[in-house]
Formats: sequence, structure tokens, C-alpha cells
Amino acid sequence: MHIWTIANQKGGVGKTTTTVSLGGILAQQNKRVLLIDTDPHASLSYYFGIDSEELTKSTYDIFVSPMASRSELLLDCLCPTKLDTLFVLPATMNLATLDRKLGAQSGMGLVLTKALKAVENEFDYVLIDCPPVLGVLMVNALAACNKILVPVQTEFLALKGLDRMMHTLEIMSKSLNKQFDALIVPTMFDKRVNAALDAYKSLRSDYGDKTWKSTIPVDTRFREASQAQTPISLFAPRSRGAYAYTKLLTSLR
Ligand SMILES: Nc1ncnc2c1ncn2[C@@H]1O[C@H](COP(=O)(O)OP(=O)(O)O)[C@@H](O)[C@H]1O
Ligand SMILES: [Mg+2]
Repeated sequence: MHIWTIANQKGGVGKTTTTVSLGGILAQQNKRVLLIDTDPHASLSYYFGIDSEELTKSTYDIFVSPMASRSELLLDCLCPTKLDTLFVLPATMNLATLDRKLGAQSGMGLVLTKALKAVENEFDYVLIDCPPVLGVLMVNALAACNKILVPVQTEFLALKGLDRMMHTLEIMSKSLNKQFDALIVPTMFDKRVNAALDAYKSLRSDYGDKTWKSTIPVDTRFREASQAQTPISLFAPRSRGAYAYTKLLTSLR
């Protein structure tokens, strides 16, 4: 089972879009895919038309329930999507209270790792969408995964935030005693804008091969796809955006 975490401490950089888009393509290739929403804002859940406020169970319950029941609960919480092999573990707002509630308890960093271990025969891919906050949820997502994707908007302000995220990864890698396989994914790239090109060049020069050698373009079809509650590869398979995420997926394998 491949577990990929999509993280950046900055919001609005394309984390949720990356999670949904890669998940959609994988599911269309008949892979069994689980998308985990760990963001209290529940954007990933809303993307698929799951009303977070109506839910009685969510990612939150995995964290607050006794260890023995966590994996069963995880399977119990899953929401289906338009794609037969694509499932969502949805988020609720109370996830925002987890840090206060459990942050200091020891062993809380490995809740997701253990819960996923117990369902490793059920899925081929697990993609974890992170909140833009370094807390117990992001720590769990980083500990559980074997690959990290860091979407970053190709503009200078976003690059500043990236330094912070890469520093976080360094610290986390040391404290978890785990080598991270991280790839920076330049997103919302507008090739007509010089500043975007400059930002991309500076990503490549600052981070070298840690930066994906291609980019995800700005594409209005992403917004339309989210309004249609459908991953872009199903909504607009011939769009530039769908093509770019297919290319990204190929480079990840
Ligand atoms: N490549 C893209 N082109 C155009 N719009 C995009 C692109 N990627 C994301 N968006 C839009 O930008 C907004 C923020 O993206 P999102 O994936 O929710 O970011 P994050 O999860 O990092 O906060 C959303 O409205 C999304 O539809
Ligand atoms: Mg998001």
C-alpha cells in the first residue's frame, strides 16, 4: 500500500486539488484509493459533496477512540464517491480541537500509521490531505507516509512559506528518525507571466531535483470540476490540468 501525504503549511497552494486529482486518476486506473481529509475546514470532503456538518463520524473519531477499534472505525467512516474504487475518510470541524485535546499525550503521533497498517490489504493507495498547520494531524500524516508531495504556488510569496515547510520536514525527519522522500510540486503555473517563470526557476535552483521538473498549469477547469464534485480527470479528461496530474503521477511511480 502506497501512502502519500500532501502537505504545506501555507493554505491555497493546491493541496486539496492535488489530492483529489491524483486520487481520481488512480481510481480510473482501477486502483483502490483512500483519500483522508485531515483538515478541519473539510475542503476535500466538501469537494465530493460530503456535508461535514451532517456527519456523525469522521477522521476525528479515529484519534479519540481506543486503539483496538480504530481500523474498524476507519472502514466504518468511509464515504463512497462517483468512482467505484475511490473512498473518502471525511473531516469534521472538531479536528481543530485535537491539538488541545491530545497534543501532549505520548504516542499520539502514530495513530494514523497504526490504523492504516490494519487496512493495508484494502487499498492500493492512500492520499492524506493536510491542514496548513503543523500540529498533531500533520505529524501523523508525515509519520504514516512513504512519500510527501509539497504543492507550492509559483509566485514569490508562496516560496517564502515553502522554506518554512522544508525546514519543518527536516526537523520532523530527525525526530521520527525517518528519511523523507519529498517532491515539491509547482502549481498554478501561468506561463504567460514572467514572475511565475522566475518563481519556478528559483525553485529549481534552490531545491534542485527535489522540485518536480514540470508544473501544474493554471486551469479554470479545476474550479468547474470542483463545482461538479468530480475529479478533473473524470470531469475534463482532455484538459491541461488533467494531463499535468497524469504526468505527475507517472513521475511518482
Ligand atoms: N492549477 C490550478 N489552476 C487553477 N485553479 C486552481 C489550481 N489548483 C488549485 N486551484 C484552485 O485554487 C483554490 C485553492 O486550491 P486548494 O487545492 O484548495 O488549496 P489548498 O488545499 O492548499 O488550500 C481552489 O479554489 C482550487 O480550485
Ligand atoms: Mg486544502
